[in-house]
Amino acid sequence: MAIIIKTPEQIEKMRTAGRLTMEVLEMIQPHIKKGVTTNELNQICHDYIVNVQKAIPAPLDYHGFPKSICTSLNHVICHGIPSDKKLKDGDIINVDITVIKDGFHGDSSKMFFVGKRSVLAERLVKNAQECLYLGIRMVKPGVHLGDIGHAIAQHAHAERFSIVEEYCGHGIGEGFHEDPQVLHYGKKGTGPVLEEGMTFTIEPMVNAGKRHSRVLKDDWTVVTKDKSLSAQWEHTLLVTADGVEVLTLRPDENI
Ligand code: MF3
Ligand code: CO
Ligand code: CO
Repeated sequence: MAIIIKTPEQIEKMRTAGRLTMEVLEMIQPHIKKGVTTNELNQICHDYIVNVQKAIPAPLDYHGFPKSICTSLNHVICHGIPSDKKLKDGDIINVDITVIKDGFHGDSSKMFFVGKRSVLAERLVKNAQECLYLGIRMVKPGVHLGDIGHAIAQHAHAERFSIVEEYCGHGIGEGFHEDPQVLHYGKKGTGPVLEEGMTFTIEPMVNAGKRHSRVLKDDWTVVTKDKSLSAQWEHTLLVTADGVEVLTLRPDENI
């Protein structure tokens, strides 16, 4: 499958989908506290996306995924399924939102702390966000995706953290997961070259321990093999003539 360059009309729809995705993450923030279940967070996001935004939660029924959002706690790397488990003091959680509006997808995730923060959790969550941000700052026409992957991995390794290799960012548009694959590791000067009008995600998954992952018996939940903490941040991006537009940028964010 080839990389789809978006037309100006399609880009406008991507902007709308990106903004709605961002707004779900803003909306859910105050609900993330000790005692709430991830099912409750799922229900609140589902109702907001469907009833307020008149949009579609992309994860629901995507290849059989049973819920409308992903909630990945502590040693869960990604694709955590909301459940009746309550958030507890000291947890870290990634909430990953994908919204479809007018046929186009927006995809973004961020980390939240529940109550007190351990030094390790704080360092890990910050490093993963820096990995995303430095990747975003490199985006412009002519850059190889391998350059970006290399820089991201180097930043995680500088703090002796590891990068998950089995899951990656992706092209996005009318499809949830389009070409190219956006690896969070790589070799400079390799991989697809960015062009104006491409839209894709960067979503590095950084582990406090070893990089290896396994999938639980539910066929979705991805965890660290060594049970170490894991953190992830994700944005949907547009390659512009001279750089990048972050389609899921939150109002308080400065990249
Ligand atoms: N939102 C995830 C991503 O960033 C994909 C989730 S697929 C699901 O690509 F089925 F688990 F929702
Ligand atoms: Co994604
Ligand atoms: Co996502």
